[in-house]
Amino acid sequence: MSEQVSAVSVHQLTKRFGSFAAVDQVSFEIPRGEIFGLLGPNGAGKTTTIRMLCGIFPPSDGEGRVLGFDIVKDAEEIKKNIGYMSQKFSLYNDLTARENIEFYAAIYGVPRKQRTERVQEMIRMAGLEHHSNERTQNLSGAWRQRLALACAVVHNPPMLFLDEATAGVDPVSRREFWDLIYDLAATGVTVLATTHYMDEAEYCNMIGMMYRGELIAYASPDELKDSLHGVLFQVECSDPMNAMSALEEVPWVQDVSIHGVLLHVIVDKSSREKAIQKLMSARGIGIIRMEESIASLEDIFIAFVEERRKQLEDAPLAVKE
Ligand SMILES: Nc1ncnc2c1ncn2[C@@H]1O[C@H](COP(=O)(O)OP(=O)(O)OP(=O)(O)O)[C@@H](O)[C@H]1O
Ligand SMILES: [Mg+2]
Repeated sequence: MSEQVSAVSVHQLTKRFGSFAAVDQVSFEIPRGEIFGLLGPNGAGKTTTIRMLCGIFPPSDGEGRVLGFDIVKDAEEIKKNIGYMSQKFSLYNDLTARENIEFYAAIYGVPRKQRTERVQEMIRMAGLEHHSNERTQNLSGAWRQRLALACAVVHNPPMLFLDEATAGVDPVSRREFWDLIYDLAATGVTVLATTHYMDEAEYCNMIGMMYRGELIAYASPDELKDSLHGVLFQVECSDPMNAMSALEEVPWVQDVSIHGVLLHVIVDKSSREKAIQKLMSARGIGIIRMEESIASLEDIFIAFVEERRKQLEDAPLAVKE
């Protein structure tokens, strides 16, 4: 893919802290105007990746370009041209919502003449019209999140980094927040978002799954769902914990995880239904219901992480420090 259409282009990006590789030879591209989701468990290396792309610190190895700028040589240019919003985004509690946006407009160098109009535009974009004169400390979590977004994009950046921007916000507000992100992407803004919420991953054009510093999957949500080599059964039974350990011992079971009262069991083929029943009854576990089901992104994510974890356990010498 050429640099003209890629907002982000990363090749073998690596960050070591001492001998520990927090990000390990990661490569991906984000075409302009697309939304890229970076998923991964705690400590996978998502924030470290974002920090390198924002020019906060340089990589130990590999290279990357953001909006055509080199992440090492042009770090200052990158900082001016991106929006960055994290869970710990700093808003000034004693200022009103409008004053916060005005403050960030000044910091990001929005020309004085355009500021009033641009701030008003951001208030409209975030739907903050009825809250613009409220003190930020009195706003709910969801409104603070929208205000933080308004502050992060007040200088009209073509690239937006969201690092767990919706953590701790209720599902309806998260959906509404993502509507705003979609609207931004529709105007040509490129978005890189990290999240732990699998429903949010569905909003992305492409997904990268990180685990222990590595990018272990890189595809669209639909491609990822198609990539599951196996069949998922949802099983409700009398003793899920015992059922889980029994199923984990069987070679044709690829993965088992608990989702509320349900076990998600990924097996190699549909005809294993009877074998599951037999195994359960041999252990004295009653099956309340069992049905073949379509794997969600969460199932895929767990399966990918589990597969990589097993590979690393089987080949300890190949594991990085
Ligand atoms: N400055 C640092 N010095 C040493 N180790 C670090 C530093 N920053 C991050 N790490 C380590 O690098 C690994 C990746 O951290 P990172 O914050 O990128 O993970 P993450 O995927 O963002 O996790 P989370 O979902 O919890 O935010 C972790 O093991 C972390 O402890
Ligand atoms: Mg993080």
